[in-house]
Amino acid sequence: MKEKSLQVNWDWSKVEDFTYWKIPDGYVMSLPYYIGKPPARIFDLGCGVGRHTVYFASLGYEVDALDLSSDAVKSTQAWLKKDGLKANVYRGKMTDLTQPDNHYDLVLAFNVIYHAFKDDMVRVINEIYRIIKPGGFFFGTILTKDPNQPFYDKTGVINEQTLIKQEEPEKGIPHFFSYTEDVLEFFKNFEIKDLYYKEWYRAPYSIESINDKKGYGHYILFAQKPESD
Ligand SMILES: C[S@@+](CC[C@H](N)C(=O)[O-])C[C@H]1O[C@@H](n2cnc3c(N)ncnc32)[C@H](O)[C@@H]1O
Repeated sequence: MKEKSLQVNWDWSKVEDFTYWKIPDGYVMSLPYYIGKPPARIFDLGCGVGRHTVYFASLGYEVDALDLSSDAVKSTQAWLKKDGLKANVYRGKMTDLTQPDNHYDLVLAFNVIYHAFKDDMVRVINEIYRIIKPGGFFFGTILTKDPNQPFYDKTGVINEQTLIKQEEPEKGIPHFFSYTEDVLEFFKNFEIKDLYYKEWYRAPYSIESINDKKGYGHYILFAQKPESD
């Protein structure tokens, strides 16, 4: 059965510790080596409180950023202003991208596109493909479905690959968990440059808690839109 589209933003007012969300990811920080020096256009899809938007704006790139959360948009704009930087940050849904075709050198979606039912996630990936320039890049993370591990959450499970989170700041947000086969299918039009699996363990870091695998894993994907379709 097809699920009705359900897109709900993070409630950033419920986040207690912003440390992680204020420091750009290490892999993302290396992306200028691939896209080259400014000028280049970058789109930060689901920008959160702005760590990557601010990072790329500080290097002189032309950055557009979108988030469904108005708190996230305001925080990103405030951070840019504080640092004397410019970027176009606006509130919107990842499924309704209005950007022209073949527009960006890089689209970034860090922990974003799986906040949806499968149909919407596929729609977003196709839209991302549309707005990237031929030869341009995508970097993103995708929640992993471990075939040997049932969901540890007891409530909110919609089907074998989808659950609706019950805890803040993600309460009410659908999450789609991809098998490796799904990732290869969803990104079949791209040339995959790098794909690996990363699992974040959670404190306290004891062997019991690590073996318990309470942290969900993510695929990390770096891909390129071919020069010619
Ligand atoms: C885990 S946070 C990641 C933020 C940022 N990419 C980062 O790495 O710091 C996910 C963000 O995606 C946004 N988001 C979730 N669903 C969305 C949707 N349907 N359209 C646009 N943004 C969405 C949330 O509001 C949240 O700010």
